[in-house]
Amino acid sequence: MVGQIVGSPLCILFYVLAVATVTAAAAAATYNATTADEEYWEKRAEEARSYSRAAYVSDPVATLNRFNTDVLRATTRRSLAKYKGPCMATNPIDRCWRCRDDWATDRKRLAQCVSGFGHRTVGGGAGKIYVVTNASDDEMIMPRKGTLRYGVVQDRPLWIVFARDMVVKLRQELIVNHNKTIDGRGAQVHITGAQITVQGVQQVIIHNVHIHHSVQHSGGMIRDSKRHYGLRTRSDGDGISIMSSSNIWIDHVSMWNCSDGLIDVVNGSTAITISNSHFTKHDHVMLFGASNTNPQDKYMQITVAFNHFGKGLVQRMPRLVIKELDKMLTQSTLLVVVNIISKLTS
Ligand SMILES: *[C@@H]1O[C@H](CO)[C@@H](O)[C@H](O)[C@H]1NC(C)=O
Ligand SMILES: *[C@@H]1O[C@H](CO)[C@@H](O)[C@H](O)[C@H]1NC(C)=O
Ligand SMILES: *[C@@H]1O[C@H](CO)[C@@H](O)[C@H](O)[C@H]1NC(C)=O
Ligand SMILES: *[C@@H]1O[C@H](CO)[C@@H](O)[C@H](O)[C@H]1NC(C)=O
Ligand SMILES: *[C@@H]1O[C@H](CO)[C@@H](O)[C@H](O)[C@H]1NC(C)=O
Repeated sequence: MVGQIVGSPLCILFYVLAVATVTAAAAAATYNATTADEEYWEKRAEEARSYSRAAYVSDPVATLNRFNTDVLRATTRRSLAKYKGPCMATNPIDRCWRCRDDWATDRKRLAQCVSGFGHRTVGGGAGKIYVVTNASDDEMIMPRKGTLRYGVVQDRPLWIVFARDMVVKLRQELIVNHNKTIDGRGAQVHITGAQITVQGVQQVIIHNVHIHHSVQHSGGMIRDSKRHYGLRTRSDGDGISIMSSSNIWIDHVSMWNCSDGLIDVVNGSTAITISNSHFTKHDHVMLFGASNTNPQDKYMQITVAFNHFGKGLVQRMPRLVIKELDKMLTQSTLLVVVNIISKLTS
């Protein structure tokens, strides 16, 4: 299958990358416990772990082959011919929704489009549409209806959209609950000021938003779900921080200039696809696996595809941190496909 693709006139390179960027160095000494409400979050991580185990595929090659087949199908001349006019979508994910006239009225179609290890991600596909009308982020414990924070902490599935262009300046990390889609299509949405935290949850899609200038915060009382809020310690100022979570899809997200990593995936998070995104002006881009002593990170399957690693990036595109390399090779897989890498700054 792989050979077939490589030999195609498109010269798309496919490879399962599990070694190239592996460094067992102590990249992640920065990962101390990020929560004060320890018991609560430990319980959530524990629950999340069973979902992660279930989401983990023991035959990653099958996932790779399926991905390759999808790409081939999306790029054959015959299928390209179906689309006329200015809209071009040449990868299987985009082709599923992007050139359709009805994307705005059929937003949830997006939930059928993801490929790679995150292919079962539906986010808030089972929920109602929730419209963010208020860009403010003043209330950490009782967020006001209409704000982004109110939407993401709800316990029910929600498909979150934005009423107009807006800059949501977060005052503390934004803790996203299960079964959510943040869908910025149709508006220019910027999320700044603090990180988006995806911790101990399943089913999150983040799509078509700009994420930048996330900075550290010392923490405080923050709501994470309808039923619970608690004391959070320092947040690092990542762009998106994914911990103990599964079925996560990040697509068409533009990210730059955050204080820590742009996307960090740690503590046994799996079934993740990061696609069609654009990363610029940043030092530590992506970190997969926080600590070389965390056995959770043996179970980590991530597809990184069709992204643009743009100007001004320095390192970690991505970086894998693991302990026992050879065990890891059979158990964890990172699939990196046709990403464009611009000239680096250093
Ligand atoms: C992590 O915790 C250790 C021990 O408590 C401390 O020495 C270190 O400064 C902490 N690191 C960060 C980045 O907070
Ligand atoms: C990481 O996972 C372990 C075990 O599942 C849990 O005890 C711990 O609280 C988790 N840490 C974070 C930061 O999620
Ligand atoms: C937005 O929410 C804030 C509180 O978070 C409130 O003060 C403000 O009036 C709201 N704006 C609108 C237009 O509802
Ligand atoms: C997420 O949504 C699905 C589908 O509606 C539901 O079965 C599941 O229980 C939800 N998960 C949580 C943790 O609420
Ligand atoms: C990144 O943002 C900080 C402020 O948060 C600013 O001081 C710095 O110059 C920015 N860096 C780049 C490369 O834009």
